[in-house]
Amino acid sequence: MSTLFDIFGFLSVVLRGLDLVAQSILLGSVSFALFIATPLARDAARELRAVTASVRLCIQWAALAAVIAATADTAVSAAVLTASLETSWREVAGAGFVIAGGVKALAAVAIGVAVSLRPLAAASTRVTVSAAAALVLYQGLASSHATARLTDSALLMFATGAHELGAALWLGGLPCFWLALRRADTRETLNQIGRRFSALAIIGVAMIVVGALVFVPMYIGSLDAVYGTAYGAMVVTKSVMFGMLVLLGFANFRAVRRFTADGAAVERVRRFVEVEMGVGFALLMAAASITSMPPAVDLVDDRVSFAELAERMAPAPPRLQSPDHALLAIPALQARLDDEHARQASIRTPAFLPGSGALPPRNAYDLAWSEYNHHWAGLLVVLMGLAALAQRSEHAPWAKHWPLLFLLLAAFLFFRADPEVWPMGESGLIESLKDPEVAQHRLFVVLIIAFALFEWRVRTARVASHRSMRIFPLLTALGGTLLLTHSHALGNVKEELLVEMTHLPIAVLGITAGWARWLEVGVQKKALRWAGWLWPSCFVLIGLLLLSYRET
Ligand code: HEM
Repeated sequence: MSTLFDIFGFLSVVLRGLDLVAQSILLGSVSFALFIATPLARDAARELRAVTASVRLCIQWAALAAVIAATADTAVSAAVLTASLETSWREVAGAGFVIAGGVKALAAVAIGVAVSLRPLAAASTRVTVSAAAALVLYQGLASSHATARLTDSALLMFATGAHELGAALWLGGLPCFWLALRRADTRETLNQIGRRFSALAIIGVAMIVVGALVFVPMYIGSLDAVYGTAYGAMVVTKSVMFGMLVLLGFANFRAVRRFTADGAAVERVRRFVEVEMGVGFALLMAAASITSMPPAVDLVDDRVSFAELAERMAPAPPRLQSPDHALLAIPALQARLDDEHARQASIRTPAFLPGSGALPPRNAYDLAWSEYNHHWAGLLVVLMGLAALAQRSEHAPWAKHWPLLFLLLAAFLFFRADPEVWPMGESGLIESLKDPEVAQHRLFVVLIIAFALFEWRVRTARVASHRSMRIFPLLTALGGTLLLTHSHALGNVKEELLVEMTHLPIAVLGITAGWARWLEVGVQKKALRWAGWLWPSCFVLIGLLLLSYRET
């Protein structure tokens, strides 16, 4: 169970994020059916038949995903509550969040069943799915901060509801829109769908902004809370990504108006919609991460001051020399414990056990060790970005081998990321894997190796399929998204934030790099040439951020 506590922070944010994604797609697909597919099908049932079938399928899958996500999210939270309070499952079953999760799952089932039994256009289907969708949204609010506020709870509930509904109308409707772009029979139908979806998306954006305008004064309240708390920093990150999405949406808004005249516009919009879906996914994960933290207005004592921030961010030469392994806190502690053990054979003092839930000790050498790791990793990433730019320039054919630099990164991570475990430390290979953090690092090493070899094969034309080319961008974007979702330990709030200040821009750059490369490998290579310059530049910036990373 202690291991469950260890990974609970991360798992709960990921599950809450997936719950929000499933909820948004379910509500967005229902809205697409109610406001776009059904009204248009009244006048052109035959042309809309394929689109209506796709929308229906989308609702069924989204309903299934919503049931699974809501159940998993609720079950994990309930498991941790029973373990931490040492109470029975029966008592936890009456908790508000468990009831809300259960009702939400049942409402999603009702939507899935309603669209499966009767046509979308039937009045009974429309009434049932509208009522059940409203229930899904209302129960979704149960785990927001608004419910727990002692003052202005009603206003905040309204703002959160508007914010979540806006996300659903715009981003949640994108899968149906994407399918419609594939399946609509005529340009005229595409045109009508595009225009209606644009209108729905604009309403969605307005609702998101309405919610945000209430959140800023009531959950943040002052400028120093923006840069001084993790909550504020996440809001800035969300706003930057919101800006990216608005730009993409605006490009689509203009392209949709050219559907009838320009056939290529449909393909371009589809590509941009894919990117919108990806960035939207990351944004919803970031939203889950925000709600896992206390609102900035509540964190008054432990804020980072501007002076502290400026000091930490001040440029300094990278640390390219490592401290001695024996000087790190855990080896030093272990050596002391071994001495002690030798002197008092009867007393067994346990050393730090990975996975035991206790925070490992850290000394100044550990910080230097970590900075050294980040700086060398940064150097490698800068080199990768520069080599990819050189390849893009088409003047340096040798540069196509740049993915092999990932192998160096993997080897470096393997040896240095966890100095207290094998091969550098005392803890053995199998024992060390009990620690979720070590297991995660080891998994990353395996993934990076697979990734390096795979992308190298793509670059050297050993693999030519479009699908394979999309693995690198997808994993890069996913890596950036996961960086946004890491949990926020409340132990040392200031230190966490100062570390996060470099990790958040890296996450946004990773997401941008991944989706820019996705556009580049798409079919319209010429029109989207800028994307081929953008993603390696993001790599260079990520490397530079890593090079400037400091823990002191
Ligand atoms: C496309 C853009 C956006 C989407 C899809 C989005 C989505 C969401 C969602 C679904 C939640 C609810 C999370 C939950 O209940 O667990 C949320 C919360 C939040 N969002 Fe956004 N958001 C967007 C843009 C913004 C912007 C621009 C801001 C800037 C102020 C913002 C500020 C917040 C805050 C402060 C919360 C947390 C509210 C709380 O503590 O309960 N969002 N967002």
